[in-house]
Amino acid sequence: MILVTGATGTVGREVVSILAERGEKVRAVSRNPATAGLPAEVEVVAADLADPASLAPHLAGVDAVFLIWPFTDPAVARTTAPEVARVIAARVPRIVYLSAPGADQPESFWGLVERAVETSGAEWTFLRPVGFAANTLGWADQIRAGDVVRWPYGDAARSLIHERDLAEAAVAALTSNGHAGARYLLSGPTTVTQEEQVRIIGRTIGRNLRWSEMPVEEARAMLSVAFGDPAFADVALAGWAGFVNEPEQVTDTVARLTGHPARTYAEWAADHAAAFR
Ligand SMILES: NC(=O)c1ccc[n+]([C@@H]2O[C@H](COP(=O)([O-])OP(=O)(O)OC[C@H]3O[C@@H](n4cnc5c(N)ncnc54)[C@H](OP(=O)(O)O)[C@@H]3O)[C@@H](O)[C@H]2O)c1
Repeated sequence: MILVTGATGTVGREVVSILAERGEKVRAVSRNPATAGLPAEVEVVAADLADPASLAPHLAGVDAVFLIWPFTDPAVARTTAPEVARVIAARVPRIVYLSAPGADQPESFWGLVERAVETSGAEWTFLRPVGFAANTLGWADQIRAGDVVRWPYGDAARSLIHERDLAEAAVAALTSNGHAGARYLLSGPTTVTQEEQVRIIGRTIGRNLRWSEMPVEEARAMLSVAFGDPAFADVALAGWAGFVNEPEQVTDTVARLTGHPARTYAEWAADHAAAFR
């Protein structure tokens, strides 16, 4: 039995679907099981990571937990992640945590959660994906409304990852041995600038889309509202600024874990074309 947190999210939903397709027993966590919209054969249970004790009743008979961390505030990670990790490790031998490359900064929330999991006593694997291709769904409203995407750092070159590849890698770490203690840096197959990503979406939906560079201060205000966290908006902006001069890293980890090459950004756009029409 695999317990999946974040089961209604971009990656967790794919993890649940792959496990169910493979005939694995899955228990999916949502704060609102009634609206989770998961396949009928999947058991959906209610728990809130802000209340670690709410997870405990659902951990009996579980062999591995897919853990996401939905809070961006490091203070929440500092106080709550050790308790979440303890509750899980007391009952489950394996944790696969969806982290990020930013975990190398130990005071980032990713770094704090990694440390909590590492010291919990469970066997652990950390998945550190680069940016999600799914983040570019944030342009969908603009694209449905017109031909211009206004956003900062068009020259930022990113190796965005398809959520299906990330979920397949997670399933490998959850269900097979040989991943204990691994920190996997996962990416797409190549870098593509943000401006080029917009052109790729345009070609996919048969329209001529253009980039319009948004000044950084305007972007900071927009993202502070979107993320509900100005400090996290600054983290995102600093990341894009860095990828203008030094493209995001490309790794072959998806291929090594899944047995097939990572999906391209164009494949991701084709899979999500409906969202941009
Ligand atoms: N986006 C990126 O580029 C990127 C890159 C690297 C790493 N990551 C990491 O990936 C993770 C996000 O994964 P995602 O994009 O798949 O998620 P998502 O689509 O943002 O969905 C969030 C999930 O978290 C669950 N959730 C929210 N608050 C919760 C709470 N208090 N207790 C329990 N569950 C809660 C939601 O479930 P319910 O609403 O059903 O409860 C939902 O399933 C984050 O930790 C992020 O740092 C993201």
